[in-house]
Amino acid sequence: MIIFKKLTWKNFLSTGNKETTVYLNQDKSTLVVGANGAGKSTMLDALSFSLFGKPHRSINKPQLVNTINNKNCLVTVEFSVGGLEYKILRGMKPNIFEVYRNGQLLNQESHSRDYQKIIEQNILKLNHKSFHQVVVLGSSNFIPFMQLPSHSRRSVIEDLLDIGIFTKMNVVLKDKINLLRSQSQNTDNKLDLLKETIRLRAKHISDLKNIDTSNKEKNEKKIQLIEDENTILKNSNKELQEEHDNTYIKVKENMDDAHVKIRDHSFAEQSWNLNVGKIVKEAKFYEENSVCPTCSQELSLELKNEKESEAKEKAKEISKKIADSIEKRQGIEKLHEEYRKQWVHLNEVQTSINNNELRLTSNNEKIADLKIVETVKDTKTAEDKLSKDKEEREKLSDLRVEQSKLSSYMDALSELLRDTGIKTKVIRQYLPIMNKLINQYLQVLDFFVLFNLDESFNETIRSRHRDVFTYPSFSEGEKQRIDLSLLFAWRQIAKMKNSANTNLLILDETFDSSMDADGVDNLLKILYTLGDDTNVFIISHKQDLLDGKFPRKIEFEKVNNFSKMK
Ligand SMILES: Nc1ncnc2c1ncn2[C@@H]1O[C@H](COP(=O)(O)OP(=O)(O)O)[C@@H](O)[C@H]1O
Ligand SMILES: [Mg+2]
Repeated sequence: MIIFKKLTWKNFLSTGNKETTVYLNQDKSTLVVGANGAGKSTMLDALSFSLFGKPHRSINKPQLVNTINNKNCLVTVEFSVGGLEYKILRGMKPNIFEVYRNGQLLNQESHSRDYQKIIEQNILKLNHKSFHQVVVLGSSNFIPFMQLPSHSRRSVIEDLLDIGIFTKMNVVLKDKINLLRSQSQNTDNKLDLLKETIRLRAKHISDLKNIDTSNKEKNEKKIQLIEDENTILKNSNKELQEEHDNTYIKVKENMDDAHVKIRDHSFAEQSWNLNVGKIVKEAKFYEENSVCPTCSQELSLELKNEKESEAKEKAKEISKKIADSIEKRQGIEKLHEEYRKQWVHLNEVQTSINNNELRLTSNNEKIADLKIVETVKDTKTAEDKLSKDKEEREKLSDLRVEQSKLSSYMDALSELLRDTGIKTKVIRQYLPIMNKLINQYLQVLDFFVLFNLDESFNETIRSRHRDVFTYPSFSEGEKQRIDLSLLFAWRQIAKMKNSANTNLLILDETFDSSMDADGVDNLLKILYTLGDDTNVFIISHKQDLLDGKFPRKIEFEKVNNFSKMK
């Protein structure tokens, strides 16, 4: 339990350099009075500032320094927690932030934000918001709950139970769900596209393979045919070449030989023929002439006869030679004709060999062409792409599974975070307590009705006779009792929720607007229920109604623009 003991401030808001000190645990209840602007609520801001570094009201920090002095603003609070005495000093111009435990300054090495965290989490176990709910019941946060529509009632309760975080989480979650949904959609689209791509690619590959195999078979047949032909061609060339090689030289020799012989015979025959012509001419001379044309000497018949027969004999002899030569030559010519035919044949053989070689070359080119099957290359590329696509599909499928998992988690989370989820669970847990507390306070105030808030924060109020009333149908005084009961019930809940326990309760003009004699009685009745360890400060400008009803009274006034305690 935090026991607040002493609060001191100077140069803070309207307070000047003269320190104001309020002892916080002296009396069970203290009435705080003073004119408007006298500096009563300043006390709240001073306490809040000393504990949390920010005032109770929404005032900017620099505006907390007294504008006239504009320096040496300092607030000090003293309290004990678990038997340890604490003192916090907080100042501006100059900045001061010191925490003492049992008179010893706590290690200040850490950053002031961490230092603040230590105060809230380790020492006070109370944050600024809980402080508002537990320590202060100000007119500013006095909510006539019953006059709120149910959705506003929900936000008050959510705020009280600190379950508003789930609403915020749900907003964030909804964004995430939407994002995930579009991401999943995106994955689905990609997957669909990929599946179609894979299907088309597989079909393409099978088409390629079909083309390939039929072509391959055809080509192989073609190649076989060509190779068969090549074998024939090679064999044929081998034979032809052999034949050629074996006969060429002989035929050539024979032919050349024959040719030479024929030529020799022809020459011989020619010269012999010339000789025969000379002899015939000489014989004819001796036949036709009786006198020598050169020497005019008479030619004897005897000589003439001798010469004639001599010529005839010679001519006969040469003619025989010519005839023999012609006969021989004709024989050779026949042979030559044979050789020439052989020679022509050999030339034909050579041509065939050449043609076969050409055919072989072109056949080999054809085979080479047929062996390069372009589609095989295409198939390989397509298969590579297909396996990459399949890998990608695996990855995407995995991603999609992850996304589905995440989505189902998020759906479950969303189920938990919606109004009917965790929040309702928490609210259901607290509703009976709330209703019990409200009814207890109503009884304290001698208002015997049965009040019930349901999960939708709609109230039913039954009288003893079990008639159902609505809030507006009650009198102003009765309404005030309901409001008061609710307000203290909320504070109790906040205390429970935060396990916050403190001696201090400050009511800052909480009921001033509707305060009458009855109201004062009711308030006092409730204050009696708070127990001996509570110190209540009732800030009010209804001094006339409240005077003398509390053991202690503090009065603030403003003198020369500075607030001070009388
Ligand atoms: N920085 C400041 N310097 C001097 N006076 C200030 C400063 N900020 C607010 N004030 C004055 O202090 C007074 C606030 O006093 P407050 O405690 O709210 O009065 P009340 O007694 O009505 O609760 C007001 O008169 C306001 O004008
Ligand atoms: Mg005030």
